[in-house]
Amino acid sequence: MLLVATGAIGVVHLPEWAMFLRVRYGWSVRVCLTHSAERLVSREALAAVTQAPVEGPAWETRRGVVPHQELAEWADLVIVAPATTNFLAKCAAGITDSLALTSVVCAQAPVLLAPSVPEAALARPAVQRNLRTLAEDGYHVVPMGRGVSAHRGAVAASGMPGLPAVLRVAARVLPAADDARAADPPLSGQRRDDARAADPPLSGQRPPRETPPVTPSAGPGPRRTGASRG
Ligand SMILES: Cc1cc2nc3c(=O)[nH]c(=O)nc-3n(C[C@H](O)[C@H](O)[C@H](O)COP(=O)(O)O)c2cc1C
Repeated sequence: MLLVATGAIGVVHLPEWAMFLRVRYGWSVRVCLTHSAERLVSREALAAVTQAPVEGPAWETRRGVVPHQELAEWADLVIVAPATTNFLAKCAAGITDSLALTSVVCAQAPVLLAPSVPEAALARPAVQRNLRTLAEDGYHVVPMGRGVSAHRGAVAASGMPGLPAVLRVAARVLPAADDARAADPPLSGQRRDDARAADPPLSGQRPPRETPPVTPSAGPGPRRTGASRG
């Protein structure tokens, strides 16, 4: 699954989320950062816990692939966490001025958005409109949670949802995605593993995807996570 991170303070939780998803659920996790996210979270920590190179914010073409297309096709689930007001607005408008946005807008898999919106911004009609548009357009907007504002320490109801809330939405969305894929055979380049067919119905657990190395010589080659499931 592809974890897209944008520049809200909740991004500091991402290494822990990624670690949990990889080790506990056995998912292959790749991360893509925006410029703002990169300033708030450790790229090295994310690479270590995902055992995969972190994508973005630069468009990396050394691997000889078009990065947003490769990511968009690879992902069987996309979670944007946290999703800033800025990212939500651009996504709602179909703007693709970063690798993260282009990957999300091009994604063929279900996209979950875990917003983190300042309380004052949430009151704006434009922000409400964007959230409605995203839901109408098929994005899965996870209800925001109560969070402590990094600014004043006050509790607000517009914080990034917690991982359990995100996974509840994922559990609802993924079986429907699998049904749609079964009815519509994958295009070339979109491989279904035998393991996927054998995988038990969702309890939040998905078959791992292979993760490509940064360069042909930089890693051990495509591999599965060694983590157990469940
Ligand atoms: C410490 C810090 C916390 C921030 N938290 C949020 C937030 O919770 N929600 C939000 O919409 N923007 C937040 N921002 C502002 C965004 O980082 C800014 O709008 C940025 O342009 C978003 O870029 P991105 O969407 O490409 O990541 C925060 C900025 C900083 C420096």
